[in-house]
Amino acid sequence: GQVDAHIDINPAEPIATISPEIYSHFIEHLGGVIYDGVWVGENSKIANVDGIRKDFIDTMKAVQVPVLRWPGGCFADSYDWRDGIGPRDKRPARAGFWKQQDSNQYGLHEFMRTCRAIGCKPYLAANLRTQPARDFYQEIEYCNAPAGDIPSNSAAPAMPDALASQRAANGDREPFNVDLWGVGNESWGCGGNLTPEEYAAEFRRFTAWTPSYSEVPLRLVAVGPNGDDVDWTSRLFKALYGNPERRHLWGLSIHYYTSGSPTKFAAGDALAFNDAEFYDLLTRGSLMDKVITDHWTAMGSAVSSSLSKGQPTVKFVVDEWGAWYGKGTELAPEYNLSQQSTMRDALLTGITFDIFQRHADKVAVAAVAQSINCIHSLMLAQGDKFCVTPTFHVFQMYLPHRGAQSIRAEFTAPSIPNPMGDTASQVGGNSYIGQLPPVKSLAGLSGSSSIKGKALTLTVVNPHLTRPMTTEIAVRGARVASAKGTVLAEKDVHAHNDFAHPDAVKPSTIATLNPSGGKLTHTFPPASVTSLEITLM
Ligand code: AHR
Repeated sequence: GQVDAHIDINPAEPIATISPEIYSHFIEHLGGVIYDGVWVGENSKIANVDGIRKDFIDTMKAVQVPVLRWPGGCFADSYDWRDGIGPRDKRPARAGFWKQQDSNQYGLHEFMRTCRAIGCKPYLAANLRTQPARDFYQEIEYCNAPAGDIPSNSAAPAMPDALASQRAANGDREPFNVDLWGVGNESWGCGGNLTPEEYAAEFRRFTAWTPSYSEVPLRLVAVGPNGDDVDWTSRLFKALYGNPERRHLWGLSIHYYTSGSPTKFAAGDALAFNDAEFYDLLTRGSLMDKVITDHWTAMGSAVSSSLSKGQPTVKFVVDEWGAWYGKGTELAPEYNLSQQSTMRDALLTGITFDIFQRHADKVAVAAVAQSINCIHSLMLAQGDKFCVTPTFHVFQMYLPHRGAQSIRAEFTAPSIPNPMGDTASQVGGNSYIGQLPPVKSLAGLSGSSSIKGKALTLTVVNPHLTRPMTTEIAVRGARVASAKGTVLAEKDVHAHNDFAHPDAVKPSTIATLNPSGGKLTHTFPPASVTSLEITLM
């Protein structure tokens, strides 16, 4: 029969181990993310575990969330972590960044409880804009210092004021052991409107000394670019690496959102879009690949020109990504940014994970923005109503890649012209940044592959709205014994789940595929994400 495309997998070209942390998550005090999404309260009629929505926990467990970032986002830079500790009825209400009064019922201890219930690690975003460095290092101490005995009736010296003792008195004797810390958030925008040089100075000051506990070496993450703003990264690295003494830096954050409109940020409709808008969104979403390689190059040259040491050891933490649409599909007005999610967003999820996996040597952590009731969510919840989005299924389908060795795979397929390729493209991660040249075409088939022992995982996105892609899949130096898998495909890419139809979009199983002559031939349906488990002979 006719073959439309080829995938040539080469196990002899390993890229790197895929960090399980690239499938991480982000939740912020914004709209209905925390209040109602995550936190319903211990006395709620909604099923909960110590106040945390049970459906949220179960769903996060189902995708084996490795790391959860909190409390923002922009919210973090006007948040005082002390407001969210201690007896809940004594906590102050405060104006939050997103024009919402925050009751502070959900704070550090509730967040840590959430992480424990999910079985994931915490990632805290520290406030750099409105608090001094002291609050940062004291938050680290509060989280990580071991608690001494708090004597009740002995003569031993008590240190009730020690931050660890306060933590114990607030219910958590065991240290939280938080190793991943974001030093500010979007400091080029809501986090302070700083220049890269100004931020570098702040970063050095905040990180010059932090309390250290031997079990928890800190992984400090610097604020990186807004989308493809290479100027930020080059100047930041020159400023940081110009002084080799001052590099307490583990990761560089990247925020890259794909707007639903090519010309305006956070625009377009989550549910109503035409074919041209569909292809255009996926084309601009695919620029995540360029964002990663551009910044890798920028980091490398800034480091080698100042220190002559070649590639940096710093890896990327893509801690905000997703498709961001305009208003119109929110659950209710107070659920700010709780946009709907369709098959289009599931395809973008697959494309994005494949990019991270192909760049397993560069991306250490990535967090989708955000888990529930927000931009590129896996879940929608309102009161006792709950559903997962198509994106949830893609997270599940990509599980076999975690911790596997990413290996090079060549995809050969006719590319799809972007019908809006002449329109100026808003490539920035946020509205602050200028325009980049329009992007003319989208890969006809894209994906990635990884291997663990004799088990090979291949994930593939066919973004074509109508064309099935019959593809010959070959593994160099090996013969395929068999394959099976899962596919998420819909005839109508507007398909989505809602409270009344929670299973409208769900994956189906691909029964065992048999190779011929050691190669597989498989047809990827239009508008589909496929995950294949290939067994080699
Ligand atoms: O995820 C929503 C917002 O997008 C975050 O608060 C901010 O960091 C980004 O601009």
